[in-house]
Amino acid sequence: MGFPAYGNVVPYAGSDALWSPQSSGRVATTMTSAPNVYTHGHHESVLRSHRWRTAENSAAYLLPHLAPGASLLDVGCGPGTITVDLAAQVAPGRVTAVEITGEALRLARAEAAARGQDNIDFAVADVHSLDFPDDTFDVVHAHQVLQHVADPVGALREMRRVCRPGGIVAARDSDYSAFTWFPLLPELDEWRTLYQRAARANGGEPDAGRRLLSWARAAGFGEVTATAGTWCFATPEDRRWWGGMWAARILQSDLARQLVGAGTPEDDLRRLSAGWQRWAAAPDGWLAILHGEIICRA
Ligand SMILES: C[S@@+](CC[C@H](N)C(=O)[O-])C[C@H]1O[C@@H](n2cnc3c(N)ncnc32)[C@H](O)[C@@H]1O
Repeated sequence: MGFPAYGNVVPYAGSDALWSPQSSGRVATTMTSAPNVYTHGHHESVLRSHRWRTAENSAAYLLPHLAPGASLLDVGCGPGTITVDLAAQVAPGRVTAVEITGEALRLARAEAAARGQDNIDFAVADVHSLDFPDDTFDVVHAHQVLQHVADPVGALREMRRVCRPGGIVAARDSDYSAFTWFPLLPELDEWRTLYQRAARANGGEPDAGRRLLSWARAAGFGEVTATAGTWCFATPEDRRWWGGMWAARILQSDLARQLVGAGTPEDDLRRLSAGWQRWAAAPDGWLAILHGEIICRA
């Protein structure tokens, strides 16, 4: 099966029964030479996963470094549930939430408004070329973003540029090859292989977690604390949620559109979706996700 560079031209060749264009993850920015393609897009099935995230379950490694009054930049804030938590931590300091498109940014705005968090400013920006002066923020944060960008080392350099000297640049990314699960369903292995190919064809690196420390070193950071964190889904409720979410994502998200565009038969995606449902229904089903984390002193 061929995998074209999704950032170039990928005609959607599947049926609308599989994928409905609620949003497009294909964004050609004017700021970088390589088009930026966010593999997952912002379909409801993707947002279901992002909106579960909190500062506690996704940024615990950063929380001890936050103090009231700090200014914080949240790069690639997505639907903003973590952003709003971080804003509560640093209030009366201000948070700036950045996304690559206005459409994605609207999701975060809506989250902040719904939760009455009013110390957040919003801006459309590309992490490769942030439209802020040098030394602007005390803390610059990115959760699950560097794995999707064309130049993660350049992105970390840019995050450092806008961070004040002595401030903190923090990033956390999962590592798809380190996902582990039971039962050993072949459909889940196939799902991972397809996802990794698609993410790489979009210029990303799905095994980012293990690389964060080396990217930080390459970006010129001297003082870096590297740790690991996990998510684990093993209760019937968690399995239903995670398995049901991926059963839908593999059929309906931008990823599905890209896979079909690259020649994956729709029947294969239906089979993988059923595999996720099978995992969710397994009484001994267990799945863990490993994340790399870095705290870098600017
Ligand atoms: C996996 S989501 C993470 C969202 C949020 N940080 C969270 O963890 O819930 C990655 C986000 O990064 C954004 N993104 C992708 N490339 C970007 C870039 N070059 N600059 C800024 N944001 C980007 C995507 O639009 C997407 O919303």
